[in-house]
Amino acid sequence: MPSLAVVEASNAAFSPGYVPVIVVVGGTSGVGQAMAEALARQTKGHAHIIIVGRNATAAERILASFPKPTESDGWAHEFVQCDASSMASVRVVCAYLSARLKTINFLIFTAGGPAANSLMESSVTPEGLNSHLAMRYFMRYLFTKELLPLVVCAKEIGQHAHVMTVLGAGFGMPIRTTDLGIHEAQSRSIKLLQGIFPSAAAVKGLVAGVGYNDGLVAHFAALHPELAFTHIQPGQVLTEGGSSIPLGWFFGTALLDPQLPQESNLPHPGTPFKQDECAKYMIYGLLDVERGLFIRDNYGNIISAHVFNPDLKNTSLDLASPTAQKFGVLNGVPMKGYGGSDASVAALIEYTEQVLATIH
Ligand SMILES: NC(=O)c1ccc[n+]([C@@H]2O[C@H](COP(=O)([O-])OP(=O)(O)OC[C@H]3O[C@@H](n4cnc5c(N)ncnc54)[C@H](OP(=O)(O)O)[C@@H]3O)[C@@H](O)[C@H]2O)c1
Repeated sequence: MPSLAVVEASNAAFSPGYVPVIVVVGGTSGVGQAMAEALARQTKGHAHIIIVGRNATAAERILASFPKPTESDGWAHEFVQCDASSMASVRVVCAYLSARLKTINFLIFTAGGPAANSLMESSVTPEGLNSHLAMRYFMRYLFTKELLPLVVCAKEIGQHAHVMTVLGAGFGMPIRTTDLGIHEAQSRSIKLLQGIFPSAAAVKGLVAGVGYNDGLVAHFAALHPELAFTHIQPGQVLTEGGSSIPLGWFFGTALLDPQLPQESNLPHPGTPFKQDECAKYMIYGLLDVERGLFIRDNYGNIISAHVFNPDLKNTSLDLASPTAQKFGVLNGVPMKGYGGSDASVAALIEYTEQVLATIH
């Protein structure tokens, strides 16, 4: 486990010879805000930071605190408003960014789930998606797919190129290929007493989203072995979303890989991170790698990784492999804390594409 001093030194060494373009979906509060702020400070404003969210007032306050580029730099930090639970809105934002940007170096997803991250309610978005899956999976998939050409452009000119999804890495939640959209669970969902017992469909959506993020990074890393993709776990963090029971508890404590911090400068087990502390570890994971797929814990440790053959671009996972049905195995390689099998990831991606094709 890297000590906080190592993490801070590594982050402080980040001084790219170009102006990195950083998109943070969820940068208006919580872990995303803290990551955007730390990257703005670290680069002394020489990073084009774009935060995506709904809350314009919060965004303006955050952007106003960043060190500013000069007018001659020709760019400014910006906020792009988007309700990311709507795939139609995500498409509009992606088209807008694609028309204006030449590259994206870091594409980061931190936006949490439905209001207050509640497990008490399971709703369906107007587009027919389970609301937990919409935020934790579908929007992350769609943003990645639509903006990936810009990330590829960054790589082609020798710059950092990394997609990071901050959710619940390392639990190895299997991707169950029956009821991928949680529709059956939704129709059968049992809520025994309003406001006291979690909705079964909401819990299922929350848990499934974690495994689906493993599938997301595996799929895109196989297609683009030249890029870096990370699914990382923030632990329990004192944020608007994370401090509401049960999500922060659920992923941060109840399921947390009990790798206990040994060093006095780390929070004791069960002690939530402050968002600024958490952001340091997330940024460490962001800057630590060049290419491949990484599953990381909340201290930035690599739980497992897979580097695909860089000569095999635009190829999918190998479904003919004898291990294609095995969970926790990627292209024949066992992966600790990884929830996919090659077959289940392929089924997930096929399903995702079918669903997204019906939403305009
Ligand atoms: N905090 C924890 O203890 C914890 C534990 C385990 C996993 N996680 C996961 O780690 C990630 C970061 O955690 P966090 O606590 O920082 O998350 P969070 O507080 O739930 O995220 C807040 C951010 O999400 C954005 N957001 C929420 N709904 C949105 C929507 N419909 N459209 C666009 N943006 C939306 C908010 O922006 P606006 O308000 O501007 O819309 C804000 O920027 C999340 O994926 C979370 O599920 C967190």
